[in-house]
Amino acid sequence: MTHIAKRSIPVSLNGNRSYSIVVGSDLFSNLATFLWTNSLGKTLVVFTHPNLKYLYGENLASKLKKSGFNVSFFEIPEGEGSKNLTQVSALLDKLLDLKLERQDTLLALGGGVIGDLTGFVASIYLRGINFVQVPTTLLAQVDASIGGKTGVNHPKGKNLIGAFYQPKTVYCDFSVLKTLPQSELRSGLAEVVKYGVIRNAPLYNFIQENLIAISELKIDGHDAIWQHLISESCADKAVVVSEDERESDLRGILNFGHTIGHGIEAECGYGGRLHGECVAVGMIAATYIAIKMNLCAQSLLESLKETLDALGFDLYFKGVDSDAVFEAMRLDKKVKSGKLRFVLPTRMGAVVIRDNVPDDLVKEAIAVVIGE
Ligand code: GLY
Repeated sequence: MTHIAKRSIPVSLNGNRSYSIVVGSDLFSNLATFLWTNSLGKTLVVFTHPNLKYLYGENLASKLKKSGFNVSFFEIPEGEGSKNLTQVSALLDKLLDLKLERQDTLLALGGGVIGDLTGFVASIYLRGINFVQVPTTLLAQVDASIGGKTGVNHPKGKNLIGAFYQPKTVYCDFSVLKTLPQSELRSGLAEVVKYGVIRNAPLYNFIQENLIAISELKIDGHDAIWQHLISESCADKAVVVSEDERESDLRGILNFGHTIGHGIEAECGYGGRLHGECVAVGMIAATYIAIKMNLCAQSLLESLKETLDALGFDLYFKGVDSDAVFEAMRLDKKVKSGKLRFVLPTRMGAVVIRDNVPDDLVKEAIAVVIGE
């Protein structure tokens, strides 16, 4: 394997909370050195899934121990079902038993569920302790691990309980993606395409130029390509979060494809379709709306469909109830003052946010990507 130099991307925030996202391969030694030299405590608790502990945790722990840390593991069952307040309470009990102190650190080794849970526990334990993110899915590397959205689900909805709480660093090690199922790798690619459409036309062009290699969904032999896809996505998210941490305005552009996408995801019963698969059709539906509102050219939609198709995404979901999707969208957090907000492309690399899309057009756009 050719060794690619790691890239460090700043997330600039006020109040001494700025941090770096590091993107590269085989980064565990580097992470151990970072934690030690930045005095992030003596004890480190790794929140992870049993399978990830076996695959990567032991190796990471041995590097951390060599750097002088005491390392403990808290194993959390896989799946969205672990993201709840009962689990949070159990984790807090265990941290208190360990007598973890404020200068010590929690480390999230996993995908979005582990990251959100670890971040939220870190935000409330002793009124806030250090935490670092080591995301192990593409989706978490390019999106969930960056920007400090932490939290758990409530019976009334996803991510309703939580806090903005930033990590001390994010290590996106793409060598860990080699064990990720291809469907999950593809799912993460939807978010990469999203960054291309919303603010990074050169990234979108890069995806098109390397479409065949990317669609193989293999990291080995294509390290430079994956390094570029991940680091460019992280850089886009870092800029957006730096400018609008609490999503009062600009951060909303990250929801491109998510308004209808989340509606479909909710209607398919979380888990029926992967998040990125729903975002992919959501991006098509949003672009359809943009065309109908004379905001962008038809060619953008054609290009987006070709790209997503070549990456192996379904462009049309059969058997989904469109009225139920519309209702699910109305319950989403992105509804502001009763109005649905849409991120709509104007050209490749540029979008606007609109809350005046007529309901009939929304339903028409849903029908473009699903069929009962
Ligand atoms: N995933 C969207 C955000 O972090 O704002």
